[in-house]
Amino acid sequence: MALPILAGTSAAVALAAYLNAKHHIVHDISTGAGGLSPAQPQTDFLTDRVLKKRVLLYHVFEDQALRIRPNHPFLIFEGKTWTYRQFFDGIIRVGNWLIKDLGVKVGEVVAIDGGNSAEYLMLWFALDAVGAVTSFVNWNLTGAGLVHCVEICDSRYLITDSDVRDNVEPSRSQFEDMGVKIQYYGPSFFASLKDDAPIPESRRDSISVESVRSIIYSSGTTGLPKGVIMSTGRELLVGFTAARYLGLKPEDRIYTCMPMYHGAAHGLCTTPAIHAGCTIVLGRKFSHKTFWPEVAKSRATIIQYVGELCRYLINGPPNEYERKHCVQMAWGNGMRPDVWEPFRERFNIPIINELYAATDGLGATFNRNAGSFTAHTIGLRGALWNWRYGDQEVRVKMDVDTEDIMRDDNGFAIRCGVNEPGQVLHRLTPEMLAGVPGYYNNEKATAKRRISDVFEKGDLWFKSGDMMRQDSDGRVFFVDRLGDTFRWKSENVSTNEVADMMGKYTQIAETNVYGVAVPGYDGRVGAASIVMADSVTLSTFDFQALATHARTMLPGYSVPLFLRVTPALEYTGTLKIQKGRLKREGVDPDLVTGDDKIYWLPPTSDRYLPFEREDWEAIKNKSVRLT
Ligand SMILES: *[C@@H]1O[C@H](CO)[C@@H](O)[C@H](O)[C@H]1NC(C)=O
Ligand SMILES: *[C@@H]1O[C@H](CO)[C@@H](O)[C@H](O)[C@H]1NC(C)=O
Ligand SMILES: *[C@@H]1O[C@H](CO)[C@@H](O)[C@H](O)[C@H]1NC(C)=O
Repeated sequence: MALPILAGTSAAVALAAYLNAKHHIVHDISTGAGGLSPAQPQTDFLTDRVLKKRVLLYHVFEDQALRIRPNHPFLIFEGKTWTYRQFFDGIIRVGNWLIKDLGVKVGEVVAIDGGNSAEYLMLWFALDAVGAVTSFVNWNLTGAGLVHCVEICDSRYLITDSDVRDNVEPSRSQFEDMGVKIQYYGPSFFASLKDDAPIPESRRDSISVESVRSIIYSSGTTGLPKGVIMSTGRELLVGFTAARYLGLKPEDRIYTCMPMYHGAAHGLCTTPAIHAGCTIVLGRKFSHKTFWPEVAKSRATIIQYVGELCRYLINGPPNEYERKHCVQMAWGNGMRPDVWEPFRERFNIPIINELYAATDGLGATFNRNAGSFTAHTIGLRGALWNWRYGDQEVRVKMDVDTEDIMRDDNGFAIRCGVNEPGQVLHRLTPEMLAGVPGYYNNEKATAKRRISDVFEKGDLWFKSGDMMRQDSDGRVFFVDRLGDTFRWKSENVSTNEVADMMGKYTQIAETNVYGVAVPGYDGRVGAASIVMADSVTLSTFDFQALATHARTMLPGYSVPLFLRVTPALEYTGTLKIQKGRLKREGVDPDLVTGDDKIYWLPPTSDRYLPFEREDWEAIKNKSVRLT
């Protein structure tokens, strides 16, 4: 990078300003509830690391393991504990294997594939230690998706947990044709590694804050996964900032069972814990059975949630340990309003700390909530915030059908007013471009996230893909992913808001709302896929009371006209609800798959009724009109 020549204090100040602009620091971390939190500590930290040439996560770990707290527990996994020093020694042995047996080079991209385990973390940090770039492949991928992820990152190796052999072996011949070697690992293999020679600093000293540090894949709910580039500076700053924001102390124990290949467990739990020198409690994967026992027995003080995890827990049966724990805070992203208070009360967790951020996004909002004023919001923007940053982050009106930004007579975007939902955009300046996430080997996808001529000719903005609104008190609410909101009877329907209301009906455990195309109608018609609550069956489900509930709680245009009763909803590996297949299948009897049952709410009916082929025909030949 074109760094200013460094000498003395003023040069350090210049460097700080340069890093600040490049890494979007002011913007990223200034969004604390109520106004500003100073960006100075982040700038100072990054400047200091650059001057000392210690910009890797490895360096932060090394500081903890060799100097600050070698004997403090770093990891608790399935009843076993490693101190920082013990874990560090493991990293070194794995690092020597990578260098001496596999010939991994500095800057080489190495794809890894595996579920949560101590070995997985060791492998990740060892790759960091030897100056390689880690490509975090989703361990649930098989076939074309798996091959695609390894192919786009040009890795020579796929280093894989033997546990996921069955996902990998069917693609072996394709990997061999591509020249990719599959290399298995597991606890006993890592335990057999003995070479503990220090990894020389020369493996790391060419790495700058702008070097690619890792590749993390989007979930690929719409097409093949895209690899998001994580720069070395961003990796360092996200961990540092989250640790500070959470006020993590060495005594804290932070529990996650979210998959490590994903940004949330990676950047919001693991790296912050290392910066703070506290303890990670790792769950192999989410399960009702193990969640509270693992949390309670490890004396975790913070738990991480993502997506629908909290809803799963409140729908789950009582667990002996669900209130016998030390948890002070739940920290995560995607908690829906109807889950918020029941979760806090049932599990006795004083603080819910909801964050909004995406691996491939810019900017983050936080809401540390212990009362009702800001419950359900994802952030709070005071007057001070608006004065300082109002021109850096905006919400603009969207055409929900085309997913294009709406333009006024002069061809410029239209800002949303109070409570109007719109897509969030972040301003990009030329010097920031290096710090902005892009997609690995995918210029087209990177370009698609950017838009120019928004408010004036030549300006450049980053599209978040998220619809939000802000109320007159400055509270920011997540509305929908762009593409989920749909239009019906000229109104915009937020699938999340409808799902929240449907979810309040006691005979429903989980809801997924989406719009379906119906021949002869503009826009989309609302449909709700529902899972019935425990011990409720089709014969005891009250379809009349549900119709009354929906018509009472929702404006007429957003009452779902179709129900799809299903045994289980479909989730991504990070517990986000999937809408794609349901939207594609709609309610066409020839397309609906599985044993799901479709119901509908005919215009004159007081209840949802089974939806038969003749009803579909009647809609198609227009003898019945949906209203
Ligand atoms: C729907 O959204 C668009 C774009 O945000 C907006 O212009 C329009 O007024 C909205 N319609 C209604 C009825 O709110
Ligand atoms: C991932 O795969 C495992 C088995 O390989 C399966 O049990 C699990 O349900 C899968 N998870 C998801 C989210 O697909
Ligand atoms: C439309 O389809 C329904 C159901 O198949 C049928 O009963 C009705 O006669 C049809 N009406 C016309 C006008 O074709």
